[in-house]
Amino acid sequence: MKPIVIVNFKTYPESTGSKAVGLANALEEAASGFDVEFGIAVQALDLREVCKAVNIPVYAQHIDPAGLGKFTGAVAPAAVKAAGAVGSLLNHSECRVERGKIKETIAIAKKIGLRVMLCAKDLEEAKELLSYSPDYIAIEPPELIGGKVSVSTARPELIAEAARVIGKRLIVGAGIKNSKDFSTALRLGAKGILLASDIDKAADPKQELKELLSY
Ligand code: G3P
Repeated sequence: MKPIVIVNFKTYPESTGSKAVGLANALEEAASGFDVEFGIAVQALDLREVCKAVNIPVYAQHIDPAGLGKFTGAVAPAAVKAAGAVGSLLNHSECRVERGKIKETIAIAKKIGLRVMLCAKDLEEAKELLSYSPDYIAIEPPELIGGKVSVSTARPELIAEAARVIGKRLIVGAGIKNSKDFSTALRLGAKGILLASDIDKAADPKQELKELLSY
């Protein structure tokens, strides 16, 4: 199975609104020559436009446990699916969700065929979240997110241990910057990586992604 690489657009100015569409196009092209399953996670407001513009898997950054009806302000999973997304991140460190809502949201997502990449801040939390049967579990140590040192460099033992416990659903992220970080994560047993600032904020995101994928 191909390694998974997901670039989270967060709400950086470089990856928001019309820039989100431009970045998505550039990254799709950059990833096209590589043997990876490449996808992106974009803001709810940009989902529809981005999904129209690219053929790679697009994820929402968050969904709520809401149907289509009396749910003012919610990011409804069915609307996310209708916009063209294949799935969503959930419980990201920057958008934490209480346990009851995680369970409810995953049940709704499964019913309509939306993948869930459930985020955890550490292995303890990841173990607890396993019982919700998400498609993927992404472990990202919060203190390394957006920082200079990657999870692959700072916490290799976490990746190895998590791979033993989580198995092929394991995604890791935080501070990932280059092909060495990527290859180390895979060698230690991760199925893929989740990253953001290194690509979103690069002077040349297309080139940066190509370098990262050349492992
Ligand atoms: O969702 C990915 C993210 O939290 C990692 O961010 O900037 O450390 O790659 P970054």
